[in-house]
Amino acid sequence: MTPAEEATARLYGDIHRYASPTFALDYFLPGFRKHLAALGLDPDRALQGIRVLDAGCGGYAGGIAIMKALGARYAVGVDLSWENLEHARERLRGTPGVRLERGNLLDLPLRDNRFDFVYCNGVLMSTEDPQRGFRELVRVLRPGGRIYIGVYGRGGLFNEVAVPLMKAAGRIVPRPITTRALRYVPRLLEPSTSLLDFMYVPIEHHYHASDVAGWFETVKIQPTFLRHYYELDTALSRALYGEGTMLFFSGIKP
Ligand SMILES: C[S@@+](CC[C@H](N)C(=O)[O-])C[C@H]1O[C@@H](n2cnc3c(N)ncnc32)[C@H](O)[C@@H]1O
Repeated sequence: MTPAEEATARLYGDIHRYASPTFALDYFLPGFRKHLAALGLDPDRALQGIRVLDAGCGGYAGGIAIMKALGARYAVGVDLSWENLEHARERLRGTPGVRLERGNLLDLPLRDNRFDFVYCNGVLMSTEDPQRGFRELVRVLRPGGRIYIGVYGRGGLFNEVAVPLMKAAGRIVPRPITTRALRYVPRLLEPSTSLLDFMYVPIEHHYHASDVAGWFETVKIQPTFLRHYYELDTALSRALYGEGTMLFFSGIKP
């Protein structure tokens, strides 16, 4: 691992300890169902019996938890962080048809054309070569299978002002001090709103929707843009979040 990857793995190992036991299903499942419906799929049927990959599965294994809840037969989770994999193993204890593996998204330890559905939320933008990671995800997806990714967006006060301010604060205040202070504001320790993530992640790219659509076009996948499940398409939301705090995209490999 490179020094930045080691720091990334350590950071998320810490952050994901603050997820409540039901975090994955409470936070991600309703939004993911909305996205499946927006893609014209029946959320209760689309994943029944299929093989899925959660690339960068994290400690609470959100992607695996929701895809298993929707009927996926076999789920593989890959993550850089041993600590997160250990944590995910605990969370998923008793769930059949799950394999967790340490690996790097930029060089997945998986065969070509292996999965029916590849899920990768909140990971590519923190890697050293997001487009290479994206091509890896497509490599392991079978023709006719679906890819679903989420990366940070651009524009708006949050992405252009608040995020750089949080990063500047992270360069000044050591992480243990911030962590101690945040015990009084537990909401800001939760993975979905983690101040630790914004302040201390070593690599963080933000994208225009057109950038991500371009990645899909280079591998000949027709992209569908999905707005973040909890953000509206209003003038206020655009002023605050620009194209979105997260941009979700999906498409089918030809
Ligand atoms: C922000 S968390 C997202 C976790 C989860 N995908 C979710 O939806 O909440 C990023 C996760 O990706 C992992 N990660 C970061 N870079 C990676 C890489 N190059 N290869 C594999 N996993 C990586 C981190 O260890 C962390 O668990």
